[in-house]
Amino acid sequence: MFIYPDLTQALHRFWAAGLVISPWLAGVDEDGRFDPVIHELLSVRARECAFTHWTEAERGLVLNDLAAPERMAQIAVYEIAASTAVHLAHETFGELDVDETLALEAMTRVENFVGQHRFGTLLQLYMLVTSWENHNALLYYEEIPERAFVRGTWHRPWVDYSLSEELMFGALLGNIRLLRRGESRFVLLTDEGRDVLARTTKMLDKAGYFRQRLTMLHVSQFNLFETYEQLSGEIWPQVMEQRRQFLQWAGVQMGMKVLELGCANGVLTFDGGLTDQVGPSGFVVAVDPAMSMLARARSKQKRLGIDWVSFRQGRAEELPIEEERFDAAIGVAFLHFTDRLQALREMKRVVRPGGTIASFHPLKANLNVPFFREWFAPILELAAKRNDQPRDFLLNPNQVRDEFEEAGLQDIESLEVSIKSSFHDPDKVVQHYIRGVGLFGEELAPLPWKARENLIEELIERGRFVCDQYAESERVLYFPGQWIKGHKPFNQSTEL
Ligand SMILES: C[S@@+](CC[C@H](N)C(=O)[O-])C[C@H]1O[C@@H](n2cnc3c(N)ncnc32)[C@H](O)[C@@H]1O
Repeated sequence: MFIYPDLTQALHRFWAAGLVISPWLAGVDEDGRFDPVIHELLSVRARECAFTHWTEAERGLVLNDLAAPERMAQIAVYEIAASTAVHLAHETFGELDVDETLALEAMTRVENFVGQHRFGTLLQLYMLVTSWENHNALLYYEEIPERAFVRGTWHRPWVDYSLSEELMFGALLGNIRLLRRGESRFVLLTDEGRDVLARTTKMLDKAGYFRQRLTMLHVSQFNLFETYEQLSGEIWPQVMEQRRQFLQWAGVQMGMKVLELGCANGVLTFDGGLTDQVGPSGFVVAVDPAMSMLARARSKQKRLGIDWVSFRQGRAEELPIEEERFDAAIGVAFLHFTDRLQALREMKRVVRPGGTIASFHPLKANLNVPFFREWFAPILELAAKRNDQPRDFLLNPNQVRDEFEEAGLQDIESLEVSIKSSFHDPDKVVQHYIRGVGLFGEELAPLPWKARENLIEELIERGRFVCDQYAESERVLYFPGQWIKGHKPFNQSTEL
């Protein structure tokens, strides 16, 4: 059996070089990603890169002298550069369109990585991730028609080339096989392939790959979620008032310097009253990783003429901000998207001694309510197959309190509020909860692309049926929400 070496460190270096591999790019239409000029540019550069670096020594390193299909190296370079370019478009402009500058920047990153860490490492990573994607889809579907497999129609519709090389290579390694039935041929996973899938899943999980993939999916979803404010107003009708009350409870006052995390399009910043509460004698810096959300927040700012706020791109775990700059670091509905401990430590770093750290986020709810069970049955079934509860982003109150303590915060206080959620219009509910804020993102992310799209369509259909069966007053859930705050100690020696 061909066994991948432990690529954890290599994967971390790959991310540090600003590179990504495509599977998170769900939602890209099936016509491919680029106009022909960009496609040609990347193809030529990928061919050159592979020609120069795919030497005998590298082949030995990657494949233990197995004969890999010739085009594989070139495809790997193309695919990594292409995915990275789309990722850069998201990061830089909050959209999917790639221009020549971004394509060249992506290619430069690939070449730098190859220069520092060998071409073979790049290829190993590509093979590891894409074989996981192929095997995972075969496990889910049990069999995929050969034509759909090589076109990636069910599992990798974003690729711009045929997967026939990967099919051949998988067959050569004994991980997948072809079955003829009548006129058609189907691709299946072998027992060896199942073993390889189990091993690679374990390795990728340990390396943090699935978490990274989910985060990217969240941010790209948010970039494309234009109706967030409108839908959250309809679905959570009381939350705007709760945002205001939370700010008061957190002690935000006139003249304060406040850092806001996960500001999205400025819904707490402006509509929730943050800039009003600090007033022009204070200031707000608001941070979010999703560029298109920030663009909307900035146009709101222009319209309102408020100049004591500025917006920056950034993640709570790695703030682009110097130490002890703020009186408070706060946010609404963002903590559950972060590596919480890391985010809390960063928030603590940027506030002055005695400064406040506060968050308002949704908590674990009882989802075992008849209308909800019926509507979201396909997701509950995915969890039931594992003898588990569905994986959602809802937090456990004690867990967050413990993390506040572990981050070294003091005088921790929390309060539970109730967030009313109305389930009226199935299209809007599914758009908001599933495609937008990603309530069950962790459940959906590992599904092959088409299975995920089909499941979302099914949820809309089921929603229509449920809305006919249950009265409007029955289609309501109350999510508990937590307000929690703590303070940075004055005396650093008391920190944990
Ligand atoms: C549900 S919205 C909350 C928006 C707003 N704060 C509100 O009051 O509704 C969550 C936001 O968190 C952002 N986000 C995701 N990951 C993040 C991270 N690691 N750090 C900070 N914000 C993040 C998303 O881009 C999104 O804009």
